[in-house]
Amino acid sequence: MTEEQAGPRNVDPPEKFASNANVSDPFVYEAADKDYEGFWADRARELHWFKEWDTTLNWSPPEAEWFVGGRTNVAYNCLDHQVEQGRGDKTALVWEGDEPSDSKTYTYSELLAEVQKFANVLKSLGAERGKPVSIYMPMIPELPVAMLACARIGAPHSIVFGAFSASALRDRINDCEATILVTADAAPRGGKATPLKANADEALEDTPSIENVVVVRRTGDDAPLTEGRDHYYDELMKDAEAECPAEEMDSEDLLFILYSSGSTGKPKGIVHTTGGYLTHVNATMKWTFDIKDDDVYWCTADIGWITGHSYLVYGPLSVGATTVQFEGTPAYPASDRWWDVIERNKVTILYTAPTAIRSFMKGGKEDLEKHDLTSLRLLGTVGEPINPRAWEWYHDNVGGGRCPIVDTWWQTETGGHMITPLPGITSTKPGSATRPFPGIDAGLFDEEGNEIEGEGSGNLVIKKPWPGMLRTLYKDPERYRETYWEKYGDVYFVGDGARRDEDGYYWITGRIDDVMNVSGHRISTAEVESALVGHEAVAESAVIGRNDEDKGQAIVAYVILEGDREGSDDLIQELNQQVRKVIGAHARPEEIIFAPDLPKTRSGKIMRRILRGVAEGQQDLGDTSTLADPSVVDSLQASRTNGS
Ligand code: WT7
Repeated sequence: MTEEQAGPRNVDPPEKFASNANVSDPFVYEAADKDYEGFWADRARELHWFKEWDTTLNWSPPEAEWFVGGRTNVAYNCLDHQVEQGRGDKTALVWEGDEPSDSKTYTYSELLAEVQKFANVLKSLGAERGKPVSIYMPMIPELPVAMLACARIGAPHSIVFGAFSASALRDRINDCEATILVTADAAPRGGKATPLKANADEALEDTPSIENVVVVRRTGDDAPLTEGRDHYYDELMKDAEAECPAEEMDSEDLLFILYSSGSTGKPKGIVHTTGGYLTHVNATMKWTFDIKDDDVYWCTADIGWITGHSYLVYGPLSVGATTVQFEGTPAYPASDRWWDVIERNKVTILYTAPTAIRSFMKGGKEDLEKHDLTSLRLLGTVGEPINPRAWEWYHDNVGGGRCPIVDTWWQTETGGHMITPLPGITSTKPGSATRPFPGIDAGLFDEEGNEIEGEGSGNLVIKKPWPGMLRTLYKDPERYRETYWEKYGDVYFVGDGARRDEDGYYWITGRIDDVMNVSGHRISTAEVESALVGHEAVAESAVIGRNDEDKGQAIVAYVILEGDREGSDDLIQELNQQVRKVIGAHARPEEIIFAPDLPKTRSGKIMRRILRGVAEGQQDLGDTSTLADPSVVDSLQASRTNGS
């Protein structure tokens, strides 16, 4: 069956699911629409506040403040408040290590104890309210502990994904001028270990703000300490005081910075604050994920990305759920590892990415059939559009046909879900993220700034502020305004294209800027280009995302060499190494094409559409008449065939 023949069909919530769902009355949409501030204020009231807010929202575009005057603490909500509600002995965190024999659990009380101690450690190293702490860690329990400890004392964290290179880490530390780095000796994944401390040491050669480094011993690998600067986590924890009261934070105090790729070479420091962010992730845990007290919830994302921040740590803990943290990879020690994790832990809700689903689909059903997956009751997906065939496969084979799927569209910038089904209400269509979450006002605009009504395609926008929205870009309010608020004035410019169908359902079509989405990771073409031209053999480079069945997009780099240089396999290796060194292994190009020239307009703008066409092997490349030199196209096609 082709994809066209397969869809679109409607998949209604199973009756049993709908009748037990946290939200089952479709009227919620209308009510939230009438009074979106009131809707979010009701959600915020479900949290613990030291002091209630005076004003729900101050909106002076592009600056939003939510729950103004309110005082709360995110770690208090995630830990103390749960213990107060009787969840002290409930499992908060299930940790599954890279080796299946390696696992650990923490109850809410145990996690609270660990967090208080580490908060005291951080304080003893000079951490305080408002001063950023950088974190570069494997997927180990000490990572959520470090985050929650920061939140407890009001020190914003800036987590750098463990696959990032030393130079990427250095830039991110220097941008926020962190005084403390929390890291580990090494990060085991798939039976191999990444030397985190060695990478960190390289970064630390050029990070003048860092005064202290905390090193968790994960593997026991050799990781020499620098006297006076570096300390082992376990040694500091041994002497740490047990109690550390949670700071009463202002609702708009900074909770964290998370760097994300934009359309220039410099990553954007996306800023999230306290009360609004927590309200958003807390509400969506209950409404989108239908979370119940007896659920075992597994989000497969790395905490280094926003999905891990919002839906592995803060969202699930703020509702008192049991959250699973997995250190490993799907294929280690065998290709049924995920299904083994689900069976052993009786996971009820699984949240993952289309790219993972597609890779399992390729491997076939046999791995799943070896395991009992009947504990699952709800499935989620995020990161990129899910093609209907992968949706159906997920639904039938992982969900056994009984689990609703929530295809959640959102971004690092939005903090939490924006367009998503509510699993007890929404009739889903495979491939569509369906409708905006209650209280979220999405729309479509054309290039000229006119709003598109009804059915149509255009640029996705959000028309009203929402509590989890980014507040600014760290130390760069001007770039914040330009990136998100300049194109259409007072509506938020998303950067994605979308189509809205006759039922008002949204179908996200992908990024409209020069940002690629590789296996659900956002990577900017400009960053990869700038890494490549950093190599002495490269004169110029243009990078594009080619459609890829497995990864969504694959990185293809066109490279023009310096006069006397010639392309070779060795040089391809070197260039790959260069990207790995400057950004990280996840940004390495899938294909490098040595080209004689790039297709440019007369004004010098690279026509990426043509590069994409060539990389995808399209015969008809459309209109090439605006090229300064149309013959470039032939030579590009020739170099691609020669190269591969
Ligand atoms: C971009 C945001 C949100 C956490 C993971 C990525 C794409 C995300 C979906 C979805 C279609 C999606 C968009 C968005 N995206 N979820 N369900 N359907 N596209 O976070 O790195 O900030 O990337 O991912 O293009 O703009 P991110």
